[in-house]
Amino acid sequence: MSTVEGHSGKLIFGKLGGKEVMAMQGRFHYYEGYAMREVTFPVRVMRELGIRTLFVSNAGGGTNAEFEIGDLMIITDHINLFPEHPLRGKNIDYGLRFPDMSEAYDRELIRMADAIAAEAGIRVRHGVYLGTQGPTFETPAEYRMFHRMGADAVGMSTVPEVIVARHCGIRVFGVSVITDLGVDGKIIEVSHEEVQKAADEAQPKMTHIMREMIKRL
Ligand code: HPA
Repeated sequence: MSTVEGHSGKLIFGKLGGKEVMAMQGRFHYYEGYAMREVTFPVRVMRELGIRTLFVSNAGGGTNAEFEIGDLMIITDHINLFPEHPLRGKNIDYGLRFPDMSEAYDRELIRMADAIAAEAGIRVRHGVYLGTQGPTFETPAEYRMFHRMGADAVGMSTVPEVIVARHCGIRVFGVSVITDLGVDGKIIEVSHEEVQKAADEAQPKMTHIMREMIKRL
């Protein structure tokens, strides 16, 4: 289903933390050439299957000077800089024409994640994720601009799926794994391989938090 290397592309159904879950192994990215309605189609499938909470994760470049590679950033809000809006066009009556985005990332889920992380001694950051189309990583000037705009991390996914999930009433919890730094003085060449390596290393911490959250839901 998904078509980027390192994103293997299956829908998996099973139990996690004693709850029935559906997982996407990989996703469609806008930079691959898919239309927004294709990028967000799996979320609408989830909605049809009755999913109530969506857990999203991604790799992001940290623009906050306090962040370190391998940090987990709980997404508290986002900035949508994709060139096409996923809800553009005739409104599908899953939700309102003009959906509210005042709490795109559920505050109660964020509190739960903070508590679980503290219990487990896992350091988590909080921040704003800015979604942009890619596929280039940012120039130093772009990282600086995004930081000034309010971003703590920047990446090429997630925002479209979250918008569509909120449109159809699904609660969202999101985490960015900081895989590289877009911070003045710390910018070095980035590659997909390094991003994947940093993400793989941080994954057990994220899995612990999400599994515990699912248990407690
Ligand atoms: N920029 C955009 N997307 C990314 C980055 C980045 O620095 N790191 C991982 N995904």
